Amino acid sequence: MRVLLTGGTGFIGSHTAVVLLEGGHDVFICDNLCNSQVSTLDAIEAICGRRPVFFEKDIRDKAAMRSILADNGIEAVVHFAGLKAVGESCAKPLEYYDNNVAGTVSLLQAMQDAGCRSMIFSSSSTVYGTPQKLPLTEDHPVGGVTNPYGRTKLVIESILSDLCAADKNFCAVCLRYFNPIGAHASGLIGENPNGIPNNLLPYVARVAAGLLKEVNVFGNDYPTPDGTGVRDYIHVMDLARGHVLALEYALKHPGWEAINLGTGQGYSVLEIIAAFEKACGKKIAYRIAPRRAGDIAANWADPSKALKLLGWKAELGLEEMCASAWNFQQMLQKKSN
Ligand code: NAD
Ligand code: UD1
Repeated sequence: MRVLLTGGTGFIGSHTAVVLLEGGHDVFICDNLCNSQVSTLDAIEAICGRRPVFFEKDIRDKAAMRSILADNGIEAVVHFAGLKAVGESCAKPLEYYDNNVAGTVSLLQAMQDAGCRSMIFSSSSTVYGTPQKLPLTEDHPVGGVTNPYGRTKLVIESILSDLCAADKNFCAVCLRYFNPIGAHASGLIGENPNGIPNNLLPYVARVAAGLLKEVNVFGNDYPTPDGTGVRDYIHVMDLARGHVLALEYALKHPGWEAINLGTGQGYSVLEIIAAFEKACGKKIAYRIAPRRAGDIAANWADPSKALKLLGWKAELGLEEMCASAWNFQQMLQKKSN
């Protein structure tokens, strides 16, 4: 396949690029580098011996996107590009709607012009809002999202559904990711957010590395077994593999689908800290802090639709997720010393 990854130098995109290249596919990346580095391309090449073709472009640049798609005979787009910080989206909603929603519309227009009719979209389990029942199946009602970031995902899913209704040849697969963590086994690519991490795993990794003092556990009075929030953490390499299978599926099945990518297993914040302690062989300091606004008590996936439609199921467990995240953190330390 000849595949364009928007946002392909980012965390999930770079891991997907590796899996696609290793599968013999031709990978093209378009990224404006607002949240990633161009050096990721070297890391991808070091891992798989092949380098994606790179365009430093913004998805909102329609003319550029049109020619990237047409000139390279792109068959499908995996659309990772987007802004993803929940707190920032509350402070700068227009930036999020412009980048994520208007950017996607512009990209879809460019795809239409270039005759490219397949998109795999990076959605999120956040579209389910507060779960009415667990595990979450794809037919669980969507909505009740508490922040603009989550609403951009919901709006884009609807845009893709409308487009598939209007154009019977268009295929859109919305992959609803649960909580992606971990890194490639080489430690050359992984998640390295700027500033203080918002998400649990990169925060825990930095405490383990001595870069931050202690983990703030946001609430221990949730109706969960140990009172802390429960999530379905999924290894980024399993997630990456899911994209390849989704691409193969999309190219054969026009129409709109939403598919959960999760393991089906929830872990609490305290369980994550304990698993990370095991992976790094150190004690991780933590304190119980107030709940974080907008958080839900628990969510985890029913991943059976992914198995049925794509033949996909998560294979890597929490131990591998924490070990690979720790390996990546140590590689970062080595580089900065
Ligand atoms: P990331 O920030 O590492 O990657 C996104 C990439 O998109 C970055 O490299 C950034 O530079 C690029 N980008 C942003 N706006 C762009 C634009 N206008 N034009 C071109 N490039 C642009 O994030 P990630 O964790 O790899 O997430 C990828 C996608 O998956 C995002 O859409 C995100 O919302 C979604 N998602 C992520 C998670 C998660 O926990 N990481 C969970 C659910 C959904
Ligand atoms: C968050 C976003 C979600 C987004 C996802 C991936 C919110 C409300 N949701 O999911 O939209 O798709 O990130 O980017 O922000 N926790 C701590 N201490 C910390 C950090 C987190 O206790 O320092 C807890 C949280 O309360 C939660 C769990 O750890 O129970 C996971 O948090 P996080 O990694 O931020 O992911 P989500 O909140 O699930």
